[in-house]
Amino acid sequence: MANVIVIGAQWGDEGKGKITDLLSRSADVVVRYQGGVNAGHTVVVQDQIFKLHLIPSGILYPNTECIIGSGTVVDPKVLLEELDQLKALNISTKNLLISETAHVTMPYHRLIDQASEEFRGDHKIGTTKRGIGPTYADKSERIGIRVVDLMDPTGFREHLRWTIEYKNVILEKLYNLPPLDPEAVIDEYLGYADRLRPHVVDSSMRIYEAVQQRRNILFEGAQGTLLDLDHGTYPYVTSSNPVAGGACVGGGVGPTIIDRVIGVAKAYTTRVGEGPFPAELEGELGKLLCDRGAEFGTTTGRKRRCGWFDAVIGRYAVRINGLDCLAITKLDVLDELDEINVCVAYDLDGDRCLDFPSNARLFARCHPIYKTLPGWKQSTAHCRSLEDLPTQALDYLKFLAELMEVPIAIVSLGANRDQTIIVEDPIHGPKRALLHDTKGQEVGVK
Ligand code: GDP
Ligand code: IMO
Ligand code: MG
Repeated sequence: MANVIVIGAQWGDEGKGKITDLLSRSADVVVRYQGGVNAGHTVVVQDQIFKLHLIPSGILYPNTECIIGSGTVVDPKVLLEELDQLKALNISTKNLLISETAHVTMPYHRLIDQASEEFRGDHKIGTTKRGIGPTYADKSERIGIRVVDLMDPTGFREHLRWTIEYKNVILEKLYNLPPLDPEAVIDEYLGYADRLRPHVVDSSMRIYEAVQQRRNILFEGAQGTLLDLDHGTYPYVTSSNPVAGGACVGGGVGPTIIDRVIGVAKAYTTRVGEGPFPAELEGELGKLLCDRGAEFGTTTGRKRRCGWFDAVIGRYAVRINGLDCLAITKLDVLDELDEINVCVAYDLDGDRCLDFPSNARLFARCHPIYKTLPGWKQSTAHCRSLEDLPTQALDYLKFLAELMEVPIAIVSLGANRDQTIIVEDPIHGPKRALLHDTKGQEVGVK
């Protein structure tokens, strides 16, 4: 039995959806523990593409219980659209459970997210405009609506009449927007409540029972370490805690039940929205990575900013999440390159800096110091074992493992499930993976 957390080790979109789907075949329960419909997780099974925002990426397995945990924020309208899409594709959603203590994203959250981004002008965050920040802000301000409130028509009516009166002052007076009609919003959301009611549970209790029954639980993070509210590139972050620690708070479990933490990182880096990105590539090479990697946001369709692999933030992700091992995705995107750079350190005002500076002003002044490695100039999409990889590709991976100081357990070479090399099964295998570093002799030996 192993309870595993899967987190993004960069700025999101690392391929967590693919890796979670892959590992879900060994999981009995998959828990999404934070974030909302800002996330976009793509899972490709043969020729079918599934784009998930809130529903855990384990949903494609008919017997896996999928829980939208307490630390998430639930947009009922988008969730129901997602449920309908899955049903239309003949995917059963009977095992989907929603925490009664998750907070609900309401129409005023979206309006305020959009209006505040506009108001900020040059200081905008570049949010997904899905109302995520304002929903979490209401949670902290203790005026949020929880799923359990939505399930109680009388209490919901009373609560929302007052809340909308308050939010209308902000919409009208601060943002010059028309007010919301409380009764129309209440009726719309009570309609959603009726459809969601059969899925609503005490999620922490369900997870605890699964722990006692020694079932395998997988905690799926959304976003990534550098977007973490406390540990990311603040203020250019999301409003929740994608880091591994967030799984305990957002799932409602104690840290002692966690066996392993897996970090998912692309073989290069991407970022959506504003904020510093030292290893960013703006010219032809950036465009090549964007085109080959199809780097357009799943949620907003925005072009993702692309750059080289950044081992400084990678090491930081290892530290903040206590990573046991890595899944390196999208190695195939680098197939055509003559040379590949890896950011091994930053130049900060003339000093060599090996650690991610938590001071945002210092981080904005960091310039990448690169080590250049030779490319392999051939396709890796067909590789299914380490032995199939060109020597330069294997050396590249070993170099990343050495820099990050954790082993690589999974290598992904395409969006499909089978385009994967499992070096070591992170759920059932021993707590060690074989692709360790350039000095070890263990590579490929099982
Ligand atoms: P997530 O948010 O971390 O789940 O990642 P996204 O789904 O937003 O973005 C990753 C994209 O890359 C998706 O379109 C995946 O289908 C795709 N993808 C995942 N792994 C690989 C890979 O190894 N190679 C390629 N070429 N695409 C991949
Ligand atoms: P997945 O789970 C990449 C970014 C936004 C913005 C910042 C704040 O698919 O990896 P928000 O709407 O959350 O208030 O926006 O966070 N962001 C993501 N970037 N992948 C995501 O999710 C993201 N979710 C939010 O672009 O910079
Ligand atoms: Mg994504």
